Amino acid sequence: MTVKTADHWVKDESLAPKGRLMIEWAEEHMPVLLAIRKRFEKEKPLEGQRISACLHVTKETGALARTLIQGGAELRLCGSNPLSTQDEVAAALARDGGSVFGFRGQSAKEYYQCIAHALAHEPTVTMDDGADLVSTLHKLAYREQGSEIETVREVLKGLDAEKLVEDVISGTEETTTGVVRLRAMAAKGVLKYPIIAVNDAQSKNLFDNPVGTGQSTLDGIMRATNILIAGKDVVVIGYGQVGSGIAERARGLGAKVTVVEVNPVRALRAVMFGYRVEPLSKASEHGDIFITATGNINVIRGEHMKEMKDGALLCNSGHFDVEICKPDLEKLTARKERINFCTEKHMLKNNRSLYLLAEGRLVNLACGEGHPSEIMDLSFAIQALSVEYAIKSAGKLERTVIPVPKEIDERVAHLKLETMGLSIDRLTEDQMEYLASWTTGTEQS
Ligand SMILES: NC(=O)c1ccc[n+]([C@@H]2O[C@H](COP(=O)([O-])OP(=O)(O)OC[C@H]3O[C@@H](n4cnc5c(N)ncnc54)[C@H](O)[C@@H]3O)[C@@H](O)[C@H]2O)c1
Repeated sequence: MTVKTADHWVKDESLAPKGRLMIEWAEEHMPVLLAIRKRFEKEKPLEGQRISACLHVTKETGALARTLIQGGAELRLCGSNPLSTQDEVAAALARDGGSVFGFRGQSAKEYYQCIAHALAHEPTVTMDDGADLVSTLHKLAYREQGSEIETVREVLKGLDAEKLVEDVISGTEETTTGVVRLRAMAAKGVLKYPIIAVNDAQSKNLFDNPVGTGQSTLDGIMRATNILIAGKDVVVIGYGQVGSGIAERARGLGAKVTVVEVNPVRALRAVMFGYRVEPLSKASEHGDIFITATGNINVIRGEHMKEMKDGALLCNSGHFDVEICKPDLEKLTARKERINFCTEKHMLKNNRSLYLLAEGRLVNLACGEGHPSEIMDLSFAIQALSVEYAIKSAGKLERTVIPVPKEIDERVAHLKLETMGLSIDRLTEDQMEYLASWTTGTEQS
């Protein structure tokens, strides 16, 4: 049962008081975002903007939503994954008059209906996590076919898709997979407005992806299973920003970690950081826990599943639920049983069992609460400042994927250090001159 009105679609409005406390808890750990909010309250830089945001509806997103609204924006939020919405937070935002479309456990059709409601807001700015909202908007404008597009058209009724996309000034994108998709759109010349790659800002990518996902992925696995990590044979597939953080945290908890990669440089880096590196065909024979973090499709396939030990656990921390090939798992499965809210036991035809967490969706958000608030403080500070920058730069940005300005990136890092009570050194005049010079080298005494 869900509650649907003209401006929200949430699971249960009575969860609002708990959601409010959750958002307040997050805010206590997000001082940089709160400092930005304070300025936004005074300056109202987002006044008159309609923002449609497709983000994981977590308590930290609640804090970001309040910041954008305080900045003057009319915000409509939808979830960016069928399993990641924290229903308490959605209820709290709705009770405060916010417009939010998302609930945990929605079907794919309901997921796209929520995206459609976000688009019906007729945005001037989009915020996305994974690029589903932006790609849907573009598919509509290019009159693409497909069941999800039909679902969206039904909700949008007569709205003119070309006009919808023309009215968007700019957008932001939160994650690696979204940026990859947007770059593909830009390369094909189909991206119709500039989008700022929040994911690629250093103050996001060096902390959110490895540190945030590292901790929250292990936390998600532990919440779903209460399994002991120490002594386990953990296989991390994809040793990029996210995978390297997961590998490090798994090792920190006492696991023996194997890394699987396709990129020789990344694989070599894993070797030099002390991990065993193997192809998945080999690691499949000994792993206890398999964690994908590649942003790629069909990474763990039937041929690997057949080799896995009885009781092996499979989960994913990449953006979409395509990394573990679920159709292959279904084909191998004789019977399945749901163990708890997040864990499904697949009894295979070969008489072994495999456990799949969160239906192969983001384990840290579906089984846990996502990244710690302190980490999202950085990511969402970059988001808020990028939206402000996008609006100030209206009409001046190229229709492509734009980097976050260095000044914003560094300002957020400085603010975070400040809120942690830390200060750093500054370059002296002669150091700046030295670094800018090409004439000074080996000196003859
Ligand atoms: N769970 C979360 O909260 C969260 C947070 C941030 C990013 N993400 C997602 O995690 C995924 C990875 O992001 P990232 O920033 O680490 O990207 P990245 O590009 O830094 O790393 C991906 C790595 O996977 C490797 N890879 C690709 N295909 C592979 C295959 N078939 N087998 C083995 N390795 C393979 C690549 O070589 C690369 O090293 C993306 O989908 C991203 O959107 C999730």
